[in-house]
Parts: sequence; structure tokens; C-alpha cells
Amino acid sequence: MQHDLDIYIRARYTLLWVVTSEESRALAEIDQLAKEQRKPLYVWSATTGVANPAIPTRVDGGKRDPLALLTAIMEDREPGLWVLRDFHPFLRDHTVVRRLREAAFSLESSNKTIILLGPVLKIPPELEKEITVVDFSLPTRDELDRQLDRIVESARSHGKIDIALDRRQKARLVQACLGLTINEAGNAIAKAIIQSGGRLDGDAVEAVTEEKQQIIRKSGLLEYYRSDDQLTTVGGLETLKEWLRKRVRAFGEEARAFGLPEPKGILLVGVQGCGKSLVAKSVANSWRLPLLRLDVGRLFSSLVGSSEENLRNAIKVAESIAPVVLWVDEIEKGFSGVGSSNVSDAGTAARVFGSFITWLQEKKAPVFVIATANTVSQLPPELVRKGRFDEIFFVDLPDTAERREIWKIHLLKRNRNPDDFDLHTLAMASDGLSGAEIEQAVIAGLYEAFDQNRPLEMSDLLDVLQDTVPLSQMMQEEIDALRSWARQRARRASLPA
Ligand SMILES: Nc1ncnc2c1ncn2[C@@H]1O[C@H](COP(=O)(O)OP(=O)(O)O)[C@@H](O)[C@H]1O
Ligand SMILES: [Mg+2]
Repeated sequence: MQHDLDIYIRARYTLLWVVTSEESRALAEIDQLAKEQRKPLYVWSATTGVANPAIPTRVDGGKRDPLALLTAIMEDREPGLWVLRDFHPFLRDHTVVRRLREAAFSLESSNKTIILLGPVLKIPPELEKEITVVDFSLPTRDELDRQLDRIVESARSHGKIDIALDRRQKARLVQACLGLTINEAGNAIAKAIIQSGGRLDGDAVEAVTEEKQQIIRKSGLLEYYRSDDQLTTVGGLETLKEWLRKRVRAFGEEARAFGLPEPKGILLVGVQGCGKSLVAKSVANSWRLPLLRLDVGRLFSSLVGSSEENLRNAIKVAESIAPVVLWVDEIEKGFSGVGSSNVSDAGTAARVFGSFITWLQEKKAPVFVIATANTVSQLPPELVRKGRFDEIFFVDLPDTAERREIWKIHLLKRNRNPDDFDLHTLAMASDGLSGAEIEQAVIAGLYEAFDQNRPLEMSDLLDVLQDTVPLSQMMQEEIDALRSWARQRARRASLPA
């Protein structure tokens, strides 16, 4: 953040908003910056008024009132950085909003900057053009490493715990803390120590990882997703799998040294039940990266608070855990409201969508985004413009050869020997079925055989197929629309027939 802030302040941006719950860590950075820029720092809160951390004895309690404060800032003759802690509740008062706007204008000619600091981001529309949001990233590996040292140091001095961490375990523990704030990491480690009866050892890695999953889930939008699926359990889609296979080592040092950029992400568009989500889940495993799932539906639901702040938080978490795969399933569901007026807060939806697009385009951290969509009619055109994703793949219904492979995979998955079945006949008899429907047919056949107390037979599967009406038959129009959309905009995920 320091770097961004530094630039904004030098460029005389007058109103900055730093969103974080880590007030003291952010203040320390701002303090550092003030020193480098040789500007006095004033820190305000509603309870204490204005204080200058350099002169702790001089607290000006007279300016607790936000209007008085803003007036004072405007009238001050000196350059300076003014940090306003938890100012957002006062932005409900339109006189305060107005005053802040006036301050923004008047500060342009001075060398003063107002920095709003707090955990909440809620910009009143009147200030949208004036305020610049600065992201305060989660602690880096180094910061967490130092924090761990402090914890160990203080625990040692109390003589209460038994520390048995070697270098590698320590590095893994720090790695496990990535994505947490300093406080959260400290608490998670403390909890791990208590759980193991006063010991800090390699087991803490597992405990902290679990705690982190909880914390991330509580944020409401992201979920640590565990799955056993591998790309080898995806039938067909050879072009897509080959593309992914070529990038297995893409996040390593070697690839950087070779001059390769990190892959940004892909969008998988296509017929429902044909393996888009499956691929997303498998990639992380095949690449040995953690998998985070972003719940786009909830992103826009008012239940979890302000959407913009939510998205920023989710991005922060993902970036701090990077390299990571970020899975955005059924992206159309979240962004369908953008640009339409039947959504209660179309403005917010559009803004959140805009930030997401900007992030997709400009992100530097190795977060590989894999987004899926079942329909295209609701996909905003900006999303599919060049530069957002490395590639857009179209996932169609499986052809005969692919269906054969899918039958094989699902028979194997259920501990049946595929050689006992006539895969070619099954593939021919399941024309128009999706991978998901083939899987269901295997399960239905198994139930039949199980009920009759005998092994699964070809006839069980063929009988099921007789009674199955493929979804694709009922959705012919939609599928045609998808195909014609994809012809111009996407690459086929499957090999040409
Ligand atoms: N190409 C495939 N190969 C193997 N299994 C598949 C394939 N496509 C679908 N399936 C099965 O169907 C399930 C649902 O598919 P899914 O990936 O959720 O489809 P989509 O996301 O495209 O709607 C998968 O978990 C998998 O078991
Ligand atoms: Mg899906």
C-alpha cells in the first residue's frame, strides 16, 4: 500500500480511502510514509479528536466534531497528512458529505491529504469522483514471519510453551497464515498452541489451516474448496486439458526465468453438465495449488454487507494466498444484474462488476481465475473482451469418442471394470447426453442391479438410457444459441471431430 499511497499523495490526490480492519498496521505504514515525505501526520478519531503521533502529549479534543475537524483541516496553513479513523458513520450526514467535498476541492491547491481509514467502504455518490480507494493488502510472508517470531519470543519469555518447530515447519506455518491479518494469524497460532497442550510444533500447520478456512468462510464470499478430482478424471475436452497441461509449471520460478508471463485465467462457457465445474475443481489439484471458490451469487446479496468491500476483501485474500486458483462458478448469475434496471441496486452491481473487470485485466498477483458460465445471454460483453482472460473455451456436449471415455471414467469411479462393458455401444446409445447424465445413468443402473442382488450388466445401463430424455433435447434452442455465440468468440474445448 505504501507505494500506492506515496504516489497518490505526491500526485496531490486529496481524498483517499484505505479499507482495512488492521488499523494499527496501516497507521504504522502511513506514519512511515509521512516521515519519508517530511509531512506532519494528524490522526483523528471521534473519541479523542486530533492527535499528532509525534507529539503524543498534544491532543486536540476540541475537534472531535467532524464538521469542526474538516473546517480545521481546510484552514490549516501547513502541508500534512490527516488520517480520519472510522469516519464512515459520519458520512450519513449530508452536511459532513458536503463539507468533505468542499475540502477535497480546497485541498487541491494545498499540500494536504485526507486519508479515511476504516474497515468499511461505503462511498456516498456525491463523493465518488473525489475519493480514491487504496487497497491495504494483507500481511506478506515476511511480516507474518516476524509476527511468528514475536509470538515465539514472548511465549519463551513467559516460559510457558514448548517450541518444536524446525525451519521447514516454520516456513509452512507462515505459509498457512497467508490470507490472514496479523491479529487473526496471532490468534490462530495461539489457539493451535492451546489445542496441543502448550506445544508449538508441525501440527500447528494443520490447525492454522483449518482456522484459516473458518475465517475465510466467515467472510461469506470465499470458500476453500477441497476436491479429489484430477484432470485425468475429465473425459474428452482434450484441447482444453492440453492447454492446462502445458501450464502445469507456469507458476514456478523456472517459467519466470524462461520469460513466460503467469497465466491470468480462462472462461469456460457451455452446455450444462458437461464438465466445466469439474475442470475448475481439477485444475487446482493438477497444478498443486490451493483452490478458492468465489460465490458470485452472494457477492451481490445484501445479506453480506457492502458488495464493493466484499469483492475487495475477497481479492485481497486471494492475492495474499497466491499462487492460487480462484474459481468463479456460474459467473452469469452474479453479473446478470449489471446494466438492467430490475435490480434494486443496479449502480452498485455495475460498479462491483467494473472493479472485477479491472482487476481481471490488471492483476499482478498470480491468481489464476477460472470462470464458468452456462448461458451467454446474460454475460456482459465487457467480460469477454480481449485481455480479460487468456482464453475463452466453449464446452459442448461430448461427441461419441468423448462419451466413451466418460463412461469409462464413471464405471471406474464406481469400481467396475470398463472392459466388462461394451463402451462403444454405450457411447452410441447415449447420444445427446451430457457427462453429468452419463454419470447419473451409471448410478441408476447400479441401483437396478443392487436391487436385484446381481452384478451390474450392460442391459441395466441400456435400459436406463431407454428411459432417459436428454436435457439437450429440451434445450435445443439454447444450445444452438450457445453454439452460434461461441463460433465467433470462443475456442472449442474438444478436439475437432
Ligand atoms: N467431461 C466429463 N468427464 C467426466 N465426468 C463428467 C464430465 N462432464 C460432466 N461430468 C460429471 O458430471 C458432473 C457435473 O458436471 P459439471 O462439471 O458440474 O458440469 P457443468 O459445470 O459444465 O454444468 C461432474 O462432477 C462429473 O461427475
Ligand atoms: Mg457447473
